[in-house]
Amino acid sequence: MKLLKKITLCSTAICIAMMSVFANGTQEMANQEKMASSSEKIKLVVAAGAVGQELQLVKDAADIYMEMHPNIEVECLETPDLSTDRLGLYLQYFEAKSSAVDLYQIDVIWPGDIAEHLLDLNEYGAKEYTSDHFSSIVQNNTVDGKLVAMPWFTDAGLLYYRTDLLKKYGYSAPPKTWKELTEMAKTIQMGERDAGNQDFWGYVWQGNSYEGLTCDALEWVYSNGGGSIVEPDGTISIDNAKAASAIDMAASWVGNISPDGVLGFGEEDARNMFQGGNACFMRNWPYAYSLGNSKDSMIMGKFDVAPLPAGDSGHGAAALGGWQLACSKYSAHKKEAADLLFFLADYEQQKTRAIVGSMNPTIMSLYKDSDVLSATPFFGSLYDVFTEAVARPSTVTAPKYAEVSKVFFSEVHDALAGKQSGTKAVRNIKLDIEDIMD
Ligand code: GLC
Repeated sequence: MKLLKKITLCSTAICIAMMSVFANGTQEMANQEKMASSSEKIKLVVAAGAVGQELQLVKDAADIYMEMHPNIEVECLETPDLSTDRLGLYLQYFEAKSSAVDLYQIDVIWPGDIAEHLLDLNEYGAKEYTSDHFSSIVQNNTVDGKLVAMPWFTDAGLLYYRTDLLKKYGYSAPPKTWKELTEMAKTIQMGERDAGNQDFWGYVWQGNSYEGLTCDALEWVYSNGGGSIVEPDGTISIDNAKAASAIDMAASWVGNISPDGVLGFGEEDARNMFQGGNACFMRNWPYAYSLGNSKDSMIMGKFDVAPLPAGDSGHGAAALGGWQLACSKYSAHKKEAADLLFFLADYEQQKTRAIVGSMNPTIMSLYKDSDVLSATPFFGSLYDVFTEAVARPSTVTAPKYAEVSKVFFSEVHDALAGKQSGTKAVRNIKLDIEDIMD
């Protein structure tokens, strides 16, 4: 029911946005050119995310920018929460060569897939700023020598856990292995239900059929020694026993330590359940930290974050996530749009976003900033988790990563739903990726 509602809402949002793409397309370009020539206000539209505090933070930044540039009006366009849906929407704009959006917030996995629609920011002075950012992300965003997006914030999967409950049930530290997590989650779930909370679950994560599941499942597989789906040299490695058993392990959680509904969960669903006090463990990105500690949170001061647990490989794995800012090739105001882009991604903005929204900066020196570290101490204590995060195979499979990921998350989803074994899933994934890459 909830899922259906979400899908309907999402497609409604996409439809509305599409209608405006086509209506706005050429007409808008003409209007904007007219406006520029008559030195009236220039309007720039930023397609931004709205997960957690994302949208509000962009709006706040836009207000500052508009005050500094009275001739510019910035409008923030809210886009779907799920990365896969957001890409679907953006592709409609790109296919229409629409000038309705000037700046796009783009996922770390997209540069290779959508580079042809984006400006080379080096031509707009990006070189002045790039050396401040993690070079691996700058490299990720460079396609055929062109910098198609500026790093904005980086992400890595984390294990959130309830410190009060661990203490209550006699555990001195968060789980180091998936086996430990499963046992602890079971015990605490049983205890909390006996104590009267029938809605309590051990572990929540992202199990909907979308890009988020690719991240979660990559973490299970990689931490179990099962590789990273397609290796950087192009080898399709997913069809192996370690990968299969990692998927089977996650399938065994569904209905036991994780609600059946987890198969429809995105980031915000998991966060709402954890933040509402109804889960002991949660896999999520750093943004959930500041919200968990907000005044209206049921778990303020009662949780912490740790690296995700290890499987057979002996170490945990965090998927590398993150978002960039890109300028559309179809923008009618490229120079102005690039200027706004550099402002949004600069030191001050990244600092604010880190402090208010616990979003990881891509500017290295911010990890030594005392204001940032006191708001989000784990940026320092878990620094290695962020720098060693495991990349999805987006560069090696570009421009077909989205197709590869879809095969991966769909087959994994079927395994989680009990429709097939992990062994069958990894076999199918391998065959389908071979077809895509042929
Ligand atoms: C987060 C990550 C992004 C990832 C998405 C999946 O937003 O930053 O890279 O694709 O989650 O849901």
